[in-house]
Amino acid sequence: MSTERTATLTVDGKTVEFPVMTGTHGNDVIDIRTLGAKTGLFTYDSGFLSTASCKSNITFIDGDKGELLYRGYPIEQLADNCNFLEVAYLLKNGELPNATQKSDFENTIKRHTMLHDQMTKFYSGFRRDAHPMAVMVGVVGALSAFYHEALDFSDAEHRSISINRLIAKLPTIVAMAYKYNKGEPFMYPRNDLDYTANFMHMMFGTPCEKYEPNPVLVRALDVIFTLHADHEQNASTSTVRLAGSSGANPFACISAGIACLWGPAHGGANEACLNMLEEIGDVSRVGEYIERAKDKNDSFKLMGFGHRVYKNFDPRAKLMGKVCAEVLAELGLENDRLFKLAKELEKIALEDEYFVEKKLYPNVDFYSGIVQKALGIPTSMFTCIFALARTVGWITQWEEMITDPEYKIGRPRQLYTGTARRNVPAIEQRP
Ligand code: SDX
Repeated sequence: MSTERTATLTVDGKTVEFPVMTGTHGNDVIDIRTLGAKTGLFTYDSGFLSTASCKSNITFIDGDKGELLYRGYPIEQLADNCNFLEVAYLLKNGELPNATQKSDFENTIKRHTMLHDQMTKFYSGFRRDAHPMAVMVGVVGALSAFYHEALDFSDAEHRSISINRLIAKLPTIVAMAYKYNKGEPFMYPRNDLDYTANFMHMMFGTPCEKYEPNPVLVRALDVIFTLHADHEQNASTSTVRLAGSSGANPFACISAGIACLWGPAHGGANEACLNMLEEIGDVSRVGEYIERAKDKNDSFKLMGFGHRVYKNFDPRAKLMGKVCAEVLAELGLENDRLFKLAKELEKIALEDEYFVEKKLYPNVDFYSGIVQKALGIPTSMFTCIFALARTVGWITQWEEMITDPEYKIGRPRQLYTGTARRNVPAIEQRP
């Protein structure tokens, strides 16, 4: 990373210079950490449209090119050539595993898939119809109540144990939330199955008969996990980093990330997108909803469209569309009503000048709801699937943050626009 260039700022007749930092790819940044001390001024960037909150080696996004790299590898190549646990190993360690490392990592994860049996009692404290994301926020946060002994995060081994526990247990926690909601018995993990097949076993299996996962559907869900694994400094990852910067334990930080992801503008968009497609109902009504999305007086947004960074196609949306077609073909649902409606909606939106001018393209959430529904996953579980996969990215970003020698507790400032200083009046003088 080079810093020979500088940016000059002149305010009130005073000129100060700040180093410009250049990374491997993407936008250069102005290092303004001394701005307050040198000028008494803060920057204002509500929503962080132009703010780099950290340096990171993990994920790179080029929004103009529609490019996504995990540790330098294009998402398209990872989706085609690796499984999710290989991608998790890559994100966590910086390199893809060789055959021995892959086998060892898979075996390590298998050994941590069970929950402490007492944790199963947490579920009975929730209403059966509780949103599963509410259950996940609670149960994941409660993991720190069970894993005291490996919480010294200056110790790489302790960090690794906690990271492996989270990667291993999230599928179990998600599947248990689904089973609890359905009123079916929890299914214990099966160590004879790989990560994603085991998840489908815990979701769709019952004690009454042996569940044999369909390998085409397992592969499809595994790719969906890979597409959701990490995505630079999005809202939920920034939440995990900020929570972790206070020294909070990783389980609590991931719980905070889950809470943030739940929002419909973020990870909740896949659930919202499917609900939107159900509401539109028929191709004949697509135009009406496109007009609503363009109407400034209507809060309706086309769910699954638009992105803060991608001003071109989200590469994950293209891959998700491909996975969706494969799953529907495998299940004989090529004429799925919602899929055909989504394809028509995408076509019309991409030809509309409003969407073209604002560079609004389908994002990762546009097709993920349709394919998950076809896989038998209920709408309310879509964001849980997102959280399961994104836990790998979150926990990797958390570890990068706490092992960064420059890291400090995150503490943004503000522009105060409230009432000027005043004295408290006696009660009889108050209006
Ligand atoms: C995810 O950050 C990440 O990386 C997130 C994510 C990840 O992997 O972590 O990629 C996952 O969150 C994907 C996004 C899922 N959300 C949705 O699909 C919800 C619908 N999309 C919008 O809410 C919106 O596009 C956002 C929230 C995704 C992005 O919002 P921005 O960057 O703040 O952009 P904006 O809302 O300011 O939109 C810019 C303009 C606005 O119009 P103007 O004020 O300039 O006139 O485009 C309009 C918006 O009104 N616009 C839309 C729109 N998205 C933006 N208009 C209609 N429909 C939409 N979907």
